[in-house]
Amino acid sequence: MARKDLIAGNWKMHADHLEAIQMVQKLGYRLDPADYDRVEVVVCPPLTALRSVQTVIEADYLPIKLGAQNVHWEDQGAFTGEVSPPMLAKLNVSYVIVGHSERREMFGDDDAVVARKLRAVLGAGMTPIVCVGESLDQREAGVTEEVIGGQLHAALDGLDAATVAGLVIAYEPIWAIGTGRTADADTAAAACGYLREQVRGTWGEAADEARVLYGGSVNPGNVAGLMAKRDIDGGLVGGASLDPDKMAALVRYWV
Ligand code: PGA
Repeated sequence: MARKDLIAGNWKMHADHLEAIQMVQKLGYRLDPADYDRVEVVVCPPLTALRSVQTVIEADYLPIKLGAQNVHWEDQGAFTGEVSPPMLAKLNVSYVIVGHSERREMFGDDDAVVARKLRAVLGAGMTPIVCVGESLDQREAGVTEEVIGGQLHAALDGLDAATVAGLVIAYEPIWAIGTGRTADADTAAAACGYLREQVRGTWGEAADEARVLYGGSVNPGNVAGLMAKRDIDGGLVGGASLDPDKMAALVRYWV
């Protein structure tokens, strides 16, 4: 029942493969075995750096998990420019972000696409980090729960409880992403708690195992307050994760 906290760095479209190698090496120097015991550490570099980062992680025996930022839902075929779940799995990718608001807003990843990608990730033996979140307009209109609950069910409905128990869900309010405007800990915890109760309503005790992260301008200054909340099991971090010092500070939030 104890959920292990998870800090995932989403590097977005930053870092060529040489920079990425340095970033993961620096992160490795800054973390101790005790850090990894307490927190699962994940980095999600751009596609061109996945193989390089994998090589560093394995050569240096770093207990850092590799994540990907996107994937196509088919295993192979005539899909120019796309990368498949088995291709990622072969690089020992453990996690794949699906449904990030940047992909929903800019690249046409609607609820149906998110659901397909999520199933494809599971089918290849990896864990999806499924993102949901409301816009500022939606929050101000008072429909936050409707929006994030709707996105959650659109992505997960039809899965069995054992599968849902293994998922990572990320609550990422769009107005807090990359804006420096973090949701305060109470607001973030309320939304994460709502998502957990939605999971409980459909999948029962899976809600005690599935991890719910908060994402949106998480930084070393606000991480402890967020992590103190029972319903927040970690962070999906963009900007701050690009700096290995800050990423290490996020992982060591309790120190
Ligand atoms: P941010 O990004 O930490 O830069 O706000 C978070 C995310 O998009 O996952």
